[in-house]
Order: sequence, then C-alpha cells, then structure tokens
Amino acid sequence: MADPDPNIGGQRPLSVEIAVLRPEEWELLREIRLEALEDSPYAYGQSLSEAALMSEQDWRTRLEKSVHTVARIGDRIVALVAIRKETHEKVAHIAHINAMYVKPEARGQGVGKLLLQIAMDAAIERGGITKFKLNVTEGNESAAALYLGLGFRVVGTLEKEILQDGKYLNDILMEKVVA
Ligand SMILES: CC(C)(COP(=O)(O)OP(=O)(O)OC[C@H]1O[C@@H](n2cnc3c(N)ncnc32)[C@H](O)[C@@H]1OP(=O)(O)O)[C@@H](O)C(=O)NCCC(=O)NCCS
Repeated sequence: MADPDPNIGGQRPLSVEIAVLRPEEWELLREIRLEALEDSPYAYGQSLSEAALMSEQDWRTRLEKSVHTVARIGDRIVALVAIRKETHEKVAHIAHINAMYVKPEARGQGVGKLLLQIAMDAAIERGGITKFKLNVTEGNESAAALYLGLGFRVVGTLEKEILQDGKYLNDILMEKVVA
C-alpha cells in the first residue's frame, strides 16, 4: 500500500505547489487522468473508454497502490505523476513511474521536471528504492527529453507495446539507478 505524504513539496517557484493525492481525493485523479488520456492517447497503455468505466472503488484502489503526486497552480491541478513500488521482496527496491502528464497550458515551464524530481525524492525518502523504471512511447520526444534530463538512461526498445488506432507503437524502456 502506498504511503501518502501530503504537501511534500510545499510552495515552489512559479507558485507551483506539490502534493500527494489521498484516496478521498479520487475525483481529482479521475478528472486529470481522463483529460490526459483524451489529450495524449499515444502516451499511455490505458484507453479513455476503459478509464471512463472505472468505479469510485477502482480509483481509490489506484490511489492506494501508487503514490499519485500532483502539481497545483493556485487551486488548479496542472500535472500528475504516479509512482508504484514493487511489492515482491526481491524486486521491492524498484519503483515504476507512470501516468506522467502536464496540462498543455502549463508545459515548457519546468513543471513536469519539478514534479517528477520531487516525487522521486519523496519516494527515495520513504525508503528502500534503488532504481526507477518507466516506459515512454517511441517518438514522444518531449517526455524522453524530460526523463533524460533527470538522468534516466535508455535500456532498450519494446516492440509493438501499444495498439493505438489500429497501429502498433514501440516503447522505449528507461531506468535510473539511484543508490
Ligand atoms: C512530457 C511532459 C510531461 C513534459 O512536461 P513539461 O512540464 O512540459 O516539461 P518541462 O517543462 O519540465 O521540461 C523538462 C525538460 O524536457 C524538455 N522538454 C519539454 N518539452 C519538450 C519539447 N516539446 N521538446 C523538447 N524538449 C522538451 C525541456 O527542455 C526540459 O529540459 P531541461 O531540463 O534541459 O530544461 C508534457 O509535455 C506532457 O504532459 N505531455 C503529454 C503526455 C505525455 O507525453 N506524458 C509522458 C508519458 S511517458
């Protein structure tokens, strides 16, 4: 089960505030996740129609299994990232980064980088993490630039990972060893 740590970031430059969503805030997750799946369907394994069918309990379970960290400007959530730690003993040092999304109007201002860096730092502080892993769709240059800039390295290409509009897309697998 995730270990939420609300308001880990406090007040940030650009008036960006970083916080962890609690299970009772599941509707906030639903809203930004549905927007992400509609805005950037190529970037995620889940489809908008699948997510739209998720129940309150499904969203709450998601918040319990992964730490969902958001960036707020004023009272508006503008970005999201999820970090899920493996549970089996031999791989419990690995954390997966998923669901990275910055709203179009907040992009290109360092919000994604700030959010991901703080979320990773908080995950490391919670303890036991030696490396982070993530997938990025081949050709998603802005996301790849974000991850490379934070010290991730390309491990390889996973062929035909996503079937989007009848076309297969490859994923680039990345990792960052932190300890
Ligand atoms: C990818 C995404 C999260 C980046 O968020 P962002 O807030 O715009 O990124 P930042 O402004 O923090 O930029 C971080 C770095 O990435 C680089 N970058 C961001 N957008 C870029 C672009 N369009 N082209 C090239 N580089 C880009 C920046 O130059 C910056 O590098 P720096 O550290 O050297 O300055 C955002 O564009 C997004 O949500 N895209 C749609 C969904 C998506 O692709 N999610 C990722 C799923 S794996």
